[in-house]
Amino acid sequence: MYCIRKITDDVTWIGANDRRLAMFEGVYHVPRGVAYNSYLLSDEKTVIFDTVDKAVRQRFLENLTAALGGRKPDYLVIQHMEPDHSAQAIELLTLYPGLKLVCNTKTLDFLKQFHEFDFDSRVTIVGEGDTLETGKHTLQFVMAPMVHWPEVMVTYDSRDKILFSADAFGCFGALNGALFADEVDFDKDYMDEARRYYANIVGKYGPQALALLGKASALEIDYLCPLHGFVWRRNIGDFIGKYLLWGSYTPEESGVMIAYASVYGNTENAAEILAHKLRARGVRSVMYDVSVSPASDIVSEAFRWSHLVFASTTYNAGIFVTMESVVNDLVSHNIQNRTVAVIENGSWAATSGGLIRENLEKCRNITFLDCGVSLRSSLKAEQAAQIETLAAAIAATFPAPEASVVAAPGFIDANTMFKLHYGLFVLTTKDGEKDNGCITNTAIQVSENPRRISIAVNKANYSCGTLMRTGVFNISILTESAPFSLFESFGFHSGRDTDKFSGYEGCHRTENGVRYLPEFANGVISGKVVECSDNGSHMLFTADVTTAFVLSGEPSLTYQYYFDHIKPKPKPRAERKAGYVCKICGYEYEGEPMPEDFICPLCKHGASDFEKITG
Ligand code: FEO
Repeated sequence: MYCIRKITDDVTWIGANDRRLAMFEGVYHVPRGVAYNSYLLSDEKTVIFDTVDKAVRQRFLENLTAALGGRKPDYLVIQHMEPDHSAQAIELLTLYPGLKLVCNTKTLDFLKQFHEFDFDSRVTIVGEGDTLETGKHTLQFVMAPMVHWPEVMVTYDSRDKILFSADAFGCFGALNGALFADEVDFDKDYMDEARRYYANIVGKYGPQALALLGKASALEIDYLCPLHGFVWRRNIGDFIGKYLLWGSYTPEESGVMIAYASVYGNTENAAEILAHKLRARGVRSVMYDVSVSPASDIVSEAFRWSHLVFASTTYNAGIFVTMESVVNDLVSHNIQNRTVAVIENGSWAATSGGLIRENLEKCRNITFLDCGVSLRSSLKAEQAAQIETLAAAIAATFPAPEASVVAAPGFIDANTMFKLHYGLFVLTTKDGEKDNGCITNTAIQVSENPRRISIAVNKANYSCGTLMRTGVFNISILTESAPFSLFESFGFHSGRDTDKFSGYEGCHRTENGVRYLPEFANGVISGKVVECSDNGSHMLFTADVTTAFVLSGEPSLTYQYYFDHIKPKPKPRAERKAGYVCKICGYEYEGEPMPEDFICPLCKHGASDFEKITG
């Protein structure tokens, strides 16, 4: 039975999903499957854009038949000849004798390399800028060589403003009912797979990907229709922004990816100590055991992070086998513009560090830190200082917190607004020399022109008074990585008698002089109050956005996530006394009944946010 979906009145998705495939192209694990997209344009002429992999042939044929609705297809456009997209070409040409194949000369060469078939009598050859009129629609062909094979081209439908983008903007993962990227939480659930797809499939060809983006920038695009993954119809600029970073080998995030190979755990131990020392300096780190994590994950993470540390034991007088494979993979994927450090280990002779460096020296613009560490079997106390030195050297390459203002005055990245949810934020203010901050759960955009946001602040909060006096503030949009201790620091004490930034001395300032959180936040909005109104327990402030910038792609923290994953679970019933517990911070009020005007001494929420302790 067919399974199809309309994208526009005239364009229908007729692709199919494969959830049984273990290894895409025989090398990339796809635990969540893969989608092979094909599209049908139904105009005065009918046009099929690419076919699918042989594994999903039957569903594709059913889909095509259903979408055609009794008509015959006039054209089959092959944008990318790789067999995961062209497996049904000959079957369709045989089934429909009137069907014309539309492709470029290189595609035709490849088709003839793969198949014995009389293509010449059926083909219309197109080149850069050529068009095909189908009735209401005009299709324009744009060459995109090496994204991902030499013959790749994309197609622009100027009527519906669709870019059929071939492998570009694809993503691993089957489509599980959702066809459009805005029907899922793409940043949270799929961005890692989109990055892994890009880095491993197209990553080697960054200049060619940027060339395609350059051509696409001249087009008005309402829909991106790739050959794998979701169709994009909203926030297309966000995804194109990721491609600009990936294509130019620009790190997405400041932090360190530590990849290690360790036979008996001693190299891992050194890597782990380094990670702890980095965190202590405020540097984010992630760790991967190259013998466990698939190489494609590590390549993807190398495209994400600004700094790479490789820690490897020596094996057969060379680099440990799984590490050697990862390093070779990174070199062949053209990784560039990274800061790199190495820890080597060897019981007889440690050679892995020099060899890793030798390999990575083939890549462009790699800055090696010269304070790598060489171990003999295990890290000894007298060598611990070398790990400390390495951590300090890595941390020194990050901007000094107080000196750095991330965004220039007046800089507004509209993408920051997309980070706002019904979530939790740190609201920061500055009254004279006193920095202050509190937790708030209400920050929303209220207008685009002028760009304004509103925030509601509990009148019992010290921040409310400082905001009324000064009129300027920052909102740090918290991420799911925010620890409960952050809420204790900013939310459960009053700024009147505590220093909210104790433990957060590294916080930066924006141009308004107010601090913000560079960590545990994915975006920052600076506001200047234009209006405030009294709403009982809370003051509602409306403010012009004066600066806004994105810090990371980490998911924003929702209230639900806070309750489910961050807020500690209540004590076992047996240990609890009669009374009420604050649903926000967990403060327990002992006694019965609870006064109606009770205000939580920790988080300042009222009695309505308490629930009775039962049992
Ligand atoms: Fe999905 Fe390059 O093929």
